[in-house]
Formats: sequence, structure tokens, C-alpha cells
Amino acid sequence: MKKQKILVIGAGGQLGTELVQGLWKVYGQENVIATDIKDPQEVLAQARFEILDVLKQKQLFEFIKKNEITQIYHLAAVLSATGEKNPKFAWHLNMDGLIHVLDAAVEFKVEKVYWPSSIAVFGPTTPRHQTPQHTVMEPSTIYGISKLAGERWCAWYHRNKGVDVRSLRYPGLIGYKSKPGGGTTDYAVDIFFKALTEKRYECFLRPDAYLPMMYMEDAVKATLDLMEAPAEKITVRAAYNISAMSFCPQELASEIKKHIPDFEIAYNPDYRQAIADSWPASINDTQARQDWGWQPQYNLARMTEDILHHLPRLLAEKV
Ligand SMILES: NC(=O)c1ccc[n+]([C@@H]2O[C@H](COP(=O)([O-])OP(=O)(O)OC[C@H]3O[C@@H](n4cnc5c(N)ncnc54)[C@H](O)[C@@H]3O)[C@@H](O)[C@H]2O)c1
Repeated sequence: MKKQKILVIGAGGQLGTELVQGLWKVYGQENVIATDIKDPQEVLAQARFEILDVLKQKQLFEFIKKNEITQIYHLAAVLSATGEKNPKFAWHLNMDGLIHVLDAAVEFKVEKVYWPSSIAVFGPTTPRHQTPQHTVMEPSTIYGISKLAGERWCAWYHRNKGVDVRSLRYPGLIGYKSKPGGGTTDYAVDIFFKALTEKRYECFLRPDAYLPMMYMEDAVKATLDLMEAPAEKITVRAAYNISAMSFCPQELASEIKKHIPDFEIAYNPDYRQAIADSWPASINDTQARQDWGWQPQYNLARMTEDILHHLPRLLAEKV
């Protein structure tokens, strides 16, 4: 097997921080180059790291050529809540960044490309419960519009240019190793930090706002499983629905209370509630399970237990 050289773009973010460590286990630390426009957090201190801006096409192309990259994981994006505040820039980064990567894959015959999509591709006219793989898609956020367009670009580059590009529609991702980057599901990360430090959290969504969610361990596993699957198993070249759990803030707070009985939550919904209202409450991921054997490992109880087991030590180290 040819030695793999992996490039991760946007590696310093919430997903990249953990995905890079997952990639180390598969391909070896020396074969994974983590890049971002800002210096990485402590967890990536051991990484082979370089500054790289996906919007600078010439620099990106030179980097891929010089390092003989065989796989690209392109994670840099403006997320849902931040995107609504600066829609033109969100469109610029989310679209031009992806097209630069796909063009580079053609030019340098990169073997595989990973680019994440999101449940934000769905909109208020989509069936809200057990949302199917193929359904009505009329996203109302710029983020969702850019992800839906990105999915179609991926399918187009696969069909017309032979790029082996693969994608997942992540639900809200919950991890404790880095802070989230401006999404609508960020509450489900922030709540753990606040529960441990202040025993109180003010939530920007309603108590009953059900959303599909996934623990970061599962998100990394799904990504690696998808990328390792034989190409002929991949029947969806836009992006796969994947699902692990669905809960609302009230349910998450009750689960945390089982471990921290004096934890209190208050609700003060803001503009992000409207975004949440436009998204599915739960996702049907039958296609991913059939095609490449997707199976989540974490439900709400197991995830909460795991985070509350590990996060206190991480917080103590930072003091
Ligand atoms: N976190 C979630 O809940 C979630 C859910 C669905 C999809 N996704 C997708 O997963 C991907 C990663 O999300 P995340 O939560 O890690 O985001 P994040 O905002 O935490 O990280 C994105 C990283 O990209 C970097 N970046 C920004 N502009 C760049 C540029 N021009 N060139 C190179 N790097 C640049 C940022 O510095 C940041 O470190 C995104 O495509 C996002 O849309 C995330």
C-alpha cells in the first residue's frame, strides 16, 4: 500500500483537534499535517503543524504538491450562527475553500478528499422526524445553503472529474477538548463547562428544542470508517445522513443533574432558536448503516458520563 500523506485544513477547530488525533492512530503521527490560519490549541502541541489559508489558492496548491499529499480533510468553514452575522464571508470561505480543495485534488491526483456537510442542509419544509437521506432541502441559513451547494459540488466533481470525495451530514458535535466555533448546537458543549465551574447555565435555546447530536468520539469514528470504506461501497457522493442521539436542553440538564445534583439551568432563547426550529429533530441514517456499516457507540447517558469523567481533570490542568 502506498504511504499516505494526510493534510487536515482547519485542524485547530472543534472537530479538527480530535480528528487529527484519530488520524494519527490510523496513519501515524508523522504522516498527518495539521494546518490552520491560527496557532493550534495545546492538545495539538505534538502535531506536525503549519499555517495554511485555504482561500490562498496558489499557496494551497504549492503545499499539496510539495508535501505529496494523498488525502485531504477540509474542515475550515464559517458555522451556522456566525454565518448569519457575516453571510457574504461565510459563502466566500465555505464555497471558494471547497472548490480550491476539489481543484487541487484534480490537479495533483489526490486519492481521497473528506469534506463535512451538516444537518443544516435541511430546512423548515423538510420532514422533521427521522429525516430521510433524500428529501426536501430548502435550508434557510447561509451556512445551510453553502453546505447544500457544497454537497452538489462534491457530487459533480466525483461524477465529472473522478474525485473520490466523501462527506457526512454531521449533527451537532459535542466534545470537551476544545471550545465550539459558533454553531447553534454549541449549548450542548458550553453547558458541561458551566456545570462544572459555576453549577449554573443559561441556555440560548428553549428547554424542548430537540436536535440531532453526536459525541465527538463517534464523529471521528464515523469519519475514519467512511474514509476507509472501499470506494464501491460509497453510493452517496453528496453527503450521508448520520445519527447517534437526539435530545433537548431539558433532557441534557436532567442527565447532568444525575452527576451534579445542584446544577441549575435557566432559559433565554435568542436568534439561534429560529435556526434550531428550521432543522430536523432526528435523522434517519439507514443508508450509512447499509453502505459502510455505520454504528454509533454513545447515547446521552454514556456521553454525559464520559465528559464528566474527563473534563474536570482538563479544567484543573488549565488553572
Ligand atoms: N461542530 C459542529 O457541531 C459541526 C456540525 C456539522 C458540521 N460541522 C462541520 O465540520 C467542520 C469543522 O467544524 P468545527 O466545529 O471544527 O469548526 P471550528 O469553527 O471549530 O473550526 C474551523 C477551523 O477552521 C479554521 N479556518 C478558518 N478559516 C480558515 C482558512 N481560510 N483556512 C484554513 N483554516 C481556516 C479556523 O481557524 C478553525 O480552527 C466544518 O466544515 C463544519 O461546518 C461541524
